[in-house]
Amino acid sequence: MSDLRWAVVASRELGDADRSALRELWDDAFGERFSDDDADHAFGGVHVIARDDEGRPVAHASAVPRRLRVGETWFEAAYVEAVAVARARRRQGLGTIAMELLADQIAAGWPFAMLSTGSHGFYERLGWRRWAGRSLTRRADGAEEFDDEHGGLMVLVPDGVPVPGLDLTLDVVCEDRAGDAW
Ligand SMILES: CC(C)(COP(=O)(O)OP(=O)(O)OC[C@H]1O[C@@H](n2cnc3c(N)ncnc32)[C@H](O)[C@@H]1OP(=O)(O)O)[C@@H](O)C(=O)NCCC(=O)NCCS
Repeated sequence: MSDLRWAVVASRELGDADRSALRELWDDAFGERFSDDDADHAFGGVHVIARDDEGRPVAHASAVPRRLRVGETWFEAAYVEAVAVARARRRQGLGTIAMELLADQIAAGWPFAMLSTGSHGFYERLGWRRWAGRSLTRRADGAEEFDDEHGGLMVLVPDGVPVPGLDLTLDVVCEDRAGDAW
């Protein structure tokens, strides 16, 4: 693992070559289930990237700002996207390191973070908890629809500091976007 270099990078600092290299990693990690919209969702915030000795990204996680409503309270929260480790590098702790470094970024900039995943066990070890309430999507016209298509929502509260109004049993609402809303 000593051949790896870790970096924390804002999306605006990433050029076209970086973006293409990240897309190769995501396609390797997720296979065909990773779409152009999924790639777009990963930008607009902060990235944790591990690169090998040739500069190729082999692990990634990003957090982007999103407006989320919990019950009646709107929050500017972090939303975690494109958590990926190259197939050849799995089960060596890289995903854990990426999420630990990203948690530091989340703690510095946001009251809490959410993500959607089918791999709950991976995140539970890292302090993430399952959202217990329902999930909805708010369309541009203001209409809200229940949306349970995603793998399952999870939430991270940095350092366990209580966030007033953040009740994991309430409905949580995100604003719609191209591709998967959650
Ligand atoms: C999920 C993923 C990022 C994990 O990366 P990784 O570097 O292999 O993870 P780590 O080595 O840090 O894993 C540490 C522990 O997490 C658990 N774990 C790892 N992958 C897991 C998964 N997919 N589901 C549940 N638990 C998992 C294991 O307990 C593992 O410990 P072990 O190897 O001693 O059994 C990687 O498998 C991946 O890129 N998957 C495809 C893309 C994806 O599903 N992304 C996340 C979902 S949003």
